[in-house]
Amino acid sequence: MKTVYIGMAADIIHVGHLNIIDTARKLGRVTIGLLTDQAIASYKRLPFLPFDHRRQIVENIKGVQEVIPQDTLNYTTNLRRLKPEYVVHGDDWREGVQRQTRQEVIETLKEWDGKLIEPCYTGGVSSTELINAHFGNGTTPNYRLKMLRRLLDAKPLVRILEAHSGLTGLIVENAQVPNAVETRQFDGIWASSLTDSTSKGKPDIEVVDFTSRYRTIEDILEVTTKPIIVDGDTGGKTEHFKYRIKTLERLGVSTVIIEDKVGLKQNSLFGTSVPQQQETIENFSHKIEQGKLSQVTDDFMIIARIESLILKKGQEDALKRARTYLEAGADGIMIHSKEPSGDEIFEFCRAYRSFPTKMPLVVVPTAFPHVSEDEWQEMGVNIIIYANHLLRSAYPAMLRTAKSILETKSAADASEKYCLSINEVLNLFSTKQA
Ligand code: SPV
Ligand code: MG
Repeated sequence: MKTVYIGMAADIIHVGHLNIIDTARKLGRVTIGLLTDQAIASYKRLPFLPFDHRRQIVENIKGVQEVIPQDTLNYTTNLRRLKPEYVVHGDDWREGVQRQTRQEVIETLKEWDGKLIEPCYTGGVSSTELINAHFGNGTTPNYRLKMLRRLLDAKPLVRILEAHSGLTGLIVENAQVPNAVETRQFDGIWASSLTDSTSKGKPDIEVVDFTSRYRTIEDILEVTTKPIIVDGDTGGKTEHFKYRIKTLERLGVSTVIIEDKVGLKQNSLFGTSVPQQQETIENFSHKIEQGKLSQVTDDFMIIARIESLILKKGQEDALKRARTYLEAGADGIMIHSKEPSGDEIFEFCRAYRSFPTKMPLVVVPTAFPHVSEDEWQEMGVNIIIYANHLLRSAYPAMLRTAKSILETKSAADASEKYCLSINEVLNLFSTKQA
């Protein structure tokens, strides 16, 4: 009996998959190399169904003898192990992100004279279109909530961008840059206190309170499907924080990050130029403990944000707090700094990685934007948050338009040079979504 190998994601099974399997089973014994969540997330959006669900489905398809994980988009490891006589794949992968993978399969099969069989792609069905149609219809709080933990399992570095409105949420949801190996996009949304406050023309001092913050979060939730990390400021009074956790969890938010400050909160990037007080380790640990006791699911996360470097309390204090907050039940640590070289964050990252508990580490590189994602990944950072960049880029663009109208006493110049056409505005959103 000849061995036949098929690599597939099988996120949404359709007749195209069945046709491929049918072709394969006529050639021999079929093994499916099922792409793991990690393998899929390395080149596109996390699959709709987790690996174990997909495995169960594929194992039960007629003609499938065995399902094994394929850990990378590249087939080579599994192929060398199985040395199949045939690999079967729809001919659609000759173009696009899978082109290179196909070439590698052909080269590897040559090592034992194996053959690539490419049945005609089944017209009229596409997993990507089905998935897009599905997400076009929205998501549920429960599904969205779980997504951040799934992303942390599947990706070495989770990439998050700030949103402060439905419109900016849509940018984070939809912006994509395809290249030869992946469709690069943001994994989730940061509901920033700085940009929410700034977009309301107010300082970032918790004056925009949570009644208002929930409203903004709802605006974002209504038009997006990606997971949301909420900037919880100080978390407020512990007794209030417990209710906040329940509300955020019910909304489908994945994580709240709270910072260990007390009294009038000022934005961290002021550093020590304004009075800011750090909370005691005991009180903040108590807040984390109480928060963890209030959540209903196991999926929701509370991440503790340490302000020791911002407030010049030193590495030792930061590391001690990290250890204690994790012991109190924090699901991860965010370390913040405004030192432009990034050196003090690097030092913290190195020390944090030697902790026995491997809990997610978050950074917000506003003050040191030169550090690349690859470098963060190497330092063991798990979540990178671009915390304010949509707001910061929108403001100068809007001001330029306002000044152009004042200078020319008409909107002609601004309309032509700086603005979307009205048609583009009207077509920004598909009415299907409503
Ligand atoms: C925010 O985006 O509101 C933050 C990050 O908390 S920072 O502005 O750097 O404090
Ligand atoms: Mg904030």
